[in-house]
Amino acid sequence: MRRVLGMRSIMSLVLSAILPITISNLAWAEGSPGATIFKAKCVLCHGADGTGNTPLGKQLQAANLRSKDVQQKTDAELRKVIHDGQTNMPAFGDQLSDEEITQVLKYVRSLGKAAKK
Ligand code: HEC
Repeated sequence: MRRVLGMRSIMSLVLSAILPITISNLAWAEGSPGATIFKAKCVLCHGADGTGNTPLGKQLQAANLRSKDVQQKTDAELRKVIHDGQTNMPAFGDQLSDEEITQVLKYVRSLGKAAKK
């Protein structure tokens, strides 16, 4: 019996395409490229949780990335700080591409969201 894609199999195809996206959104924070960049370049000062509660972070007065103060700023403002640096915050413009800054900023936003819960 020959069966071309019926409505049912199309639906299950659609579902199997949507489901992993939902799941990966939930688990996003850990495996994302932004998380990888953050772990490599930012935790030293900002800490794994983004609060800045590390020996170096305290010494340099690294911003608490989960704070309202930081999270209320626009993407453009935060991108600029990451790209150009600001007081003790080093510039990453020569180390990270625009795309990588977008990814790491997305991760910073996810830290802020986690804090509200
Ligand atoms: C050497 C320590 C250090 C490292 C590494 C570092 N930061 Fe910072 N960061 C700081 C300090 C200090 C501040 C506070 C700057 C200020 O008060 O002007 C800051 C502030 C920030 C802010 C808040 C800016 C604002 O205006 O509120 C963001 C966002 C940020 N850092 C993101 C990052 C990201 C993303 C990385 C990794 C790519 C990173 N930082 C790596 C020290 C660091």
